[in-house]
Amino acid sequence: MFQGRRIVVGISGGIAAYKVCEVVSTLAKAGAEVRAILTDAAQEFITPLTLATLCRHAAYTDAGFWQPNHSRPQHIELGEWAEAMLIAPLTANTLAKLVYGMADNLLTNTVLASTCPILLAPAMNTDMWEQSVVQHNWQQILATPRYHGVGPGAGILACDRVGAGRMVESEEILPHLSSILHTGGKRDLVGKQVLISTGGTREHFDPVRYLGNPASGRMGVALAQAAAHRGAQVTLVHAPMEPYLLATLSAVQQVPIVSAAEMHQAMRSHLPQADWIVMAAAVADVRPQTYWQEKLPKRDIPDTLALTAVPDIVADLATDKQPHQRLIGFAAQTGDFVTPAREKLQRKQLDAIVANPIDQPDSGFGSDRNQAIFLSAQGQQRDIAPCSKLQMAHYLFDFVHTL
Ligand code: C5P
Repeated sequence: MFQGRRIVVGISGGIAAYKVCEVVSTLAKAGAEVRAILTDAAQEFITPLTLATLCRHAAYTDAGFWQPNHSRPQHIELGEWAEAMLIAPLTANTLAKLVYGMADNLLTNTVLASTCPILLAPAMNTDMWEQSVVQHNWQQILATPRYHGVGPGAGILACDRVGAGRMVESEEILPHLSSILHTGGKRDLVGKQVLISTGGTREHFDPVRYLGNPASGRMGVALAQAAAHRGAQVTLVHAPMEPYLLATLSAVQQVPIVSAAEMHQAMRSHLPQADWIVMAAAVADVRPQTYWQEKLPKRDIPDTLALTAVPDIVADLATDKQPHQRLIGFAAQTGDFVTPAREKLQRKQLDAIVANPIDQPDSGFGSDRNQAIFLSAQGQQRDIAPCSKLQMAHYLFDFVHTL
């Protein structure tokens, strides 16, 4: 999603500046063109040489800004060139300057000389972050359409405080930047509640053993990120999954469940408030009929396990769907993946379905990438070539807008 994209990364002076190196390195390796601007204070923490090496391009500082040998002013060149900007770390000082439209260095001049969307990743000591004037500035800047915020998170800070003010990690910054590049910074889901299910449910027959499937929940995480980045309020009902995947979802309400029955209950209870419902979970089709409260000794495990069907959650949600709601399912298939998906779209009374081949390299369970054909109840079809799951999530929301 970053190949060939033009990104200006502004770095203001805080210890979290060292973390932006990881962001810049990943962007450059992903094929983005990156230009770094360091404030004077940023250079107390990291050097222009670090950024120039990672960007494969000279880094920009105020020293260069004031030199008379440019054909055009640097802030104009950079401002016109940028498709998106990231300011990370954002200090209290630079935040205040942005709020008041001040322009006293190359970074703040470039902001004013550009019109692209800007992602802000604040980082500072907890007391600084919690000052009412800083909070006021933060709310003010987020109310301005071109600015998007990510974090700060909470945790141990470099000043040994435990609290809010940590710059979020590159795993959270990069998807957000990627979303902004996809949408051009549009927040087209503001005011919408998006309810998403993901992961593979586990149907236990004793406290440790279960029937399950290899779904990682990554598709649902990508959907939750994409929806949140576009301004939606997002609830993610998820089966057990790797905590690091969920750690990138600080702005999403997370509802952990284990079994299909629990997922059913959670989805039903959140259904009335939801506008768009995306059922990306790999729900077990069957569960063991008997549940043993204690772990069964190996010798007592039965040779055959009686199974019973679990309710079809999405089909049940469809029976209570309001006219303004949109219900989207997934159909993970091997072989001919379109015919069964079309049949499920009708039988389950969905508005759209994602026909998802899981026997192709580079797609489906556990992969960061996916491919699909979107089908709508009105007969629309959209083929999605292999792409990242985040990109696919955005294509899906673009498609749902047309329903
Ligand atoms: O498993 P199947 O291929 O029928 O799944 C298609 C869609 O139905 C998916 O969106 C899945 O999340 C949903 N589903 C469900 N409840 C089930 C089985 C599947 O909601 N018990």
